[in-house]
Amino acid sequence: MTETWDTIADWYAELLRTGSPLNDFNRDTLLAHLPDELSGHQVLDLGCGEGIITRALAARGATAHGIDPSTRLIEHARTAGTPGPGTVSYAVDDGCVLGTVADHSVDWVTAGLSLNHVPDLDAALTAVRRVLTPRGALVLSVPHPCFEAPHASWTRLADGTHRRVVGDYLAEGFWRSADPRAVRRAGNRHRTLSGYLTALLRHGFTPETVDEPAPTAPVIAHQPRRAGLPPFLLIRARAPHDSPGPAG
Ligand SMILES: C[S@@+](CC[C@H](N)C(=O)[O-])C[C@H]1O[C@@H](n2cnc3c(N)ncnc32)[C@H](O)[C@@H]1O
Repeated sequence: MTETWDTIADWYAELLRTGSPLNDFNRDTLLAHLPDELSGHQVLDLGCGEGIITRALAARGATAHGIDPSTRLIEHARTAGTPGPGTVSYAVDDGCVLGTVADHSVDWVTAGLSLNHVPDLDAALTAVRRVLTPRGALVLSVPHPCFEAPHASWTRLADGTHRRVVGDYLAEGFWRSADPRAVRRAGNRHRTLSGYLTALLRHGFTPETVDEPAPTAPVIAHQPRRAGLPPFLLIRARAPHDSPGPAG
């Protein structure tokens, strides 16, 4: 069976709800690039999945809208409720289109581990720029391109420690993990570090923060091999000054 985000949706929602230190770490690191207080802020969560980041945005007071192309994941998000004091809403939508989001209507776009799934990064950044208010910002995280390249594996050294083995860093494009327990069995679009940065620059975004966070103690306790490597790359990038304002 060829897995898709819809076919692994129940598994993914269960994984996150029973506690995934890596996904909790991603959420917390991504939110560290946004203000603590988001009351009055409109935030789009692109590729929201079952809503782990959308709910956290609402907990900071945001009016948070999550979109995802997986109908099943959006069903899970809707059943998870709203933590408040902000609000959440959800829609099935494609991050390359953002057809449910009005022009220049959001102050922030978060994209947690999702831009590495969109088939067309230029289309997604065009859509993100369209929906952001002038000087709004995109905060994205992706699996670290250097260490999570296609088919990266682990090797065990004589002293019992592990090292990441990466061989296909320059092989940009779609790949699928053969590991039946891996998230990326549903597929993944690998792009290089320069691929992400030059795409942001091409679309007029200004990177403001770039983060390669050290894994936390809960992540290392869960996956000791990850000690010493940043699992994610995070970038906060400001939309161009000249983004046209809302119509009228
Ligand atoms: C690893 S999950 C991350 C979900 C959520 N942000 C989180 O932190 O748990 C990747 C998500 O990207 C979504 N995705 C796949 N293709 C997409 C697209 N074209 N536009 C937006 N999201 C997409 C998947 O459906 C999935 O929910």
